[in-house]
Amino acid sequence: MKISDCNNIMDFRLIARRKLPAAIFHYLDGGADDEWTLGRNTAAFNDYELLPAQLSDVSNVSLKTKLFGEEVDWPVMISPTGASKLFHAAGEPAVIRAAEKFGMVYSLSTLGTMTIEDVSAACSGPKMYQLYIFKDRELTRDLIDRCKAAGFRALCLTVDTPVAGNRERDHVYGFATGKFKLRSVPSMLRHPGWLYRVLVKNDLDMVNLATSVRPDQFADMSLLEYFNSQLDRSLTWKDVEWLAAQWDGPLVIKGVQTVADCRNAANSGATAVMLSNHGGRQLEGAPAPVDCIADVADALHDKLEIICDGGVRRGTHVIKALALGASACSIGRGYLYPLAAGGQAGVERGLQLLRDEVARTMALLGCDSIGKLGSSFIRRRR
Ligand code: LAC
Repeated sequence: MKISDCNNIMDFRLIARRKLPAAIFHYLDGGADDEWTLGRNTAAFNDYELLPAQLSDVSNVSLKTKLFGEEVDWPVMISPTGASKLFHAAGEPAVIRAAEKFGMVYSLSTLGTMTIEDVSAACSGPKMYQLYIFKDRELTRDLIDRCKAAGFRALCLTVDTPVAGNRERDHVYGFATGKFKLRSVPSMLRHPGWLYRVLVKNDLDMVNLATSVRPDQFADMSLLEYFNSQLDRSLTWKDVEWLAAQWDGPLVIKGVQTVADCRNAANSGATAVMLSNHGGRQLEGAPAPVDCIADVADALHDKLEIICDGGVRRGTHVIKALALGASACSIGRGYLYPLAAGGQAGVERGLQLLRDEVARTMALLGCDSIGKLGSSFIRRRR
């Protein structure tokens, strides 16, 4: 199977599975515990039906909308995900170029393998930086200052990782500890290019931490251990207020599900929420993001932009989320499978297929602009 044979996002997963060493594929593909939440994220979209308004003149369908105060070509953005170079040598630059071509917001993760400054130089489109608040507030403030200087549009705080989720596939292959188990070795040997790049060229540094942290601060630990040791479990909404005071632009809280938490986010100075359970990788049992939209939109649509992050694999999923009240959807695995399958060309084909699905769904639904999507187009399956 080649990327030109892929007809939808999940087709790329089949190629990614073949191209990546098992330990890496399962890190990308897997979720917490029994992976109930992971499965639910996509399956929950099937609990909704789309209700077309026929004969509505769809000769000109526009997908343009606004996100973080800027016009974007369609209502899908790139989620922050760690270490893109784990999945393809082309890494972040490939995703940036594809996102730019498709007029989307690009997000850089704190655990990314490209610096804030290099992303800024490579990406002229709107950019979001995903932050963790570290125990060392100077390190946090330094990252914020660098994002300001680099012209990032939005700052995003991930709040669902006080501890790492229990990703059992990572225990099976040893990814969780960084000490790969013997059983992951044969598969790595079948991917010598990957092995050479990662082990010999050492292509996987978390470069943003590296350029912010003095070497003596993590002298006795790996950078990943340093990162884990720096995660602050004592965080509260007061810290979000602190963050909002440091950042005078769009502030996004990622990893909330309830109206109460979204209200806390708004009251603490956030301008947007990402309804997200970290791709089913953190709290097993958390609801699917799509099931959280309607209540949050009812209560807070005038205070927050609402982004649905989790399980989006189809254009119909995007349209369902927007009809329920989301401003946009965000994709993680939705671009990482295509990246692993074929680098920039893979991501571009994946985005093209997804955007075509969104446009086709709008026409079939009888809706010619994103702003008109609403509750009349959707109902819960009876
Ligand atoms: C994960 C972290 C990096 O989900 O966000 O693996």
